[in-house]
Parts: sequence; structure tokens; C-alpha cells
Amino acid sequence: MDTIDLEVDALRDWLERGRPVTVLDIRSPVQREEWSIPGSVAVDAQTAMRASDPSSIGGISVPAGQPIVAVCAQGKSSVLAVRAMRENGIDAVSLKGGMQAWSLAWNVAYVELPGSVAQIIQVRRTGKGCLSYIVGSEGEAAVMDASVDPAIYLRIAEERDLVIRYVLDTHVHADHLSRSRTLADRCSAEIFLPEQDRVTYPFQALRDGESITAGAIEIQALHTPGHTLESTCFLVDGRALLTGDTLFPGAVGRPDLAASAEQARKRAHLLYATLRRIAALDPDIRILPGHASEPIPFDGKACGGRLGDVLKEVEMLRATEDAFVETLLSRIPQTPPNHLEIVRLNERGEFPGVDPTELEAGANRCAIS
Ligand SMILES: [Fe+2]
Repeated sequence: MDTIDLEVDALRDWLERGRPVTVLDIRSPVQREEWSIPGSVAVDAQTAMRASDPSSIGGISVPAGQPIVAVCAQGKSSVLAVRAMRENGIDAVSLKGGMQAWSLAWNVAYVELPGSVAQIIQVRRTGKGCLSYIVGSEGEAAVMDASVDPAIYLRIAEERDLVIRYVLDTHVHADHLSRSRTLADRCSAEIFLPEQDRVTYPFQALRDGESITAGAIEIQALHTPGHTLESTCFLVDGRALLTGDTLFPGAVGRPDLAASAEQARKRAHLLYATLRRIAALDPDIRILPGHASEPIPFDGKACGGRLGDVLKEVEMLRATEDAFVETLLSRIPQTPPNHLEIVRLNERGEFPGVDPTELEAGANRCAIS
């Protein structure tokens, strides 16, 4: 390899196609704990720099005959590591932009929904944990919670002979910039949002119980306040529930973002009622959440679970309402960096001149378990 840098898209493509590659993560253990590339190997960077044995870097055996990609936080020290490795006869490249650039990397999984004609494609932002969906039937599709470049949804839809007619968000996001408005503009789709007065651009409001139709399937809105006041879940063909940040396998949404302590307490009570309502649905419904708390492997396996199983994993739900609220409020994680600015831009629906990877830095912290 002549060039020292490898673009994020190229590594993403290699991993998606299952091409053998060794990804060497040269960051500190603390940085690695926050987020990492699936299948990557942690190495001691200092030892890697001094490596003189091509078969081993930092004491780790590196498979022969496959590319080595070094990754750091922003793609600077990985260039130095690659130079040192090359001087020692080890061919390697550096991931351009490092983990910050990797935050935009994505992969897909097809959701099996027995007995339904709905096609559901889970588009996973593996570099950050955001999950979005393309829901299609008979040539028409809706996209929910778009979080990657609109061109990606357009390409996936086209590959499956789907035309994106609708773009929806489950709520006003605080941890990533919504690409929904831009996507809707790109494909002249209608944009539907939960009824609220926060978003300032034109949209069609979806109220509790209202639905839209894509091909042969109905997508019904269930108003599920708690994570935010407008939070809404989408029931697809009566068989899958896209829960946004309301319910995750083993966890529930946080009630505190862009809220005072008093508002967070009120939202926690609302979340309890919401979760009781969801718990009364058919336990065989497939829960498809809006986020994953771990890097998402290139394994084609959809994140989510059967409602009955998901509920069993949420211990807090077996508590009384007051105990649920107290437990929830006592376990609030650190707030995502820049969340107030992200909310402001999402209410506006566009972010010209903003580098999303800078503003969206850091792991998702939406769930409380
Ligand atoms: Fe959220």
C-alpha cells in the first residue's frame, strides 16, 4: 500500500464484505472503553512504534497476508504508528480521521418479521450506536430516525426497488443530528413528526393512534411520552414497534435531557405510564430501538428483541411507580456532550457548515438499565 491513509468508507466496505483485515486500536484503554471498531485489537502504541518483529506488534500476533489498519482518536498518532511499522517492514495504513471520522460508519441488518409483508431494514451507525429504519412494502418506503448521510438511505431503497415517500422521527433527538429534513428534501418525501411545537420547519403532525400507509402496510403512531414529551413509537403492520429512545432491550430511556430536575421527574412518571401501556401490547411484537449502547458488529443481525423478552430484562418495570421513578432518577448517566446545541439544530432541521462528527462526539448515553 502506497498511501498512508485509508478512508472510513473503504474500511466500512471491507468489514461489510468480510474482507480479512486487522484493525489495530492504538488508543488508551479509557478511550477504547468509550467506543471501538467491532473486531479491532487493542495494542500498546508505544510498543507498536518500536516494533521490530513483523510477526508481532505489541506482543499481539498479527495474521500474515492481510491489511493492517491503525486507528487512533483523530488519525494523527496512527500515522506516526504506521510510519514506524513501515520502517520495520510491516505494511499498514492509518484510518483517516480516526474514531471521530469512524462515528459516521454504518452497516445494515434485515429484520425478519414472520407473517408480515413489511420489509424492514435496520441501518446502524456502528460508529456511534444510532439505529434508523427503512420500512417498505410494494415499492413504497418510510425512513425513521435518519442519522447517516441521506444518500445512504436513497441507495439502499433503490437497491430494493423502494421509493421513499415518508420520513419520520420518533422524537427531537439530543445525541445526534437528525438527517430527516435533508433526506425528505432530497427525495421529495413527506415529513411526519410527533405533534409538538418545538420544531420550527414545516412538517405533518402525527398524533396518538394516527397512521400512515406505505404500500400494503400501516404504520401507526403511539404517543409514548417520557424520554421527551413528544416521544412517539411507530407500530409497523401491528408486528414491530420502533421505540426510539423509549424502550431498549434491557433498558429504558432517560428522562432528563434538556429538562429541569422537576421536568425530569414529571417525565419519569410519564415514562412509567408509557411502559405500562407498551407492556399491554402483544408480547410477540418485535421491539426495534433507536440506539444500541455497544458498537454494532457487521454481522447482519438486527438489534432488538421480542417485547415479552425485552420487558423481562427491565428489572425496574417490576417496581411500583414511585420506586421506578426514584431508581430511574438515581441512575441518570452523564449528559452527551453538546446535547443542547444538537437539540437546537434539530429543532431547526438543518445544520449548514457544521461538522457533525465534532458536534456528535462521544458515545450514545440514552439508556438507563
Ligand atoms: Fe433521544
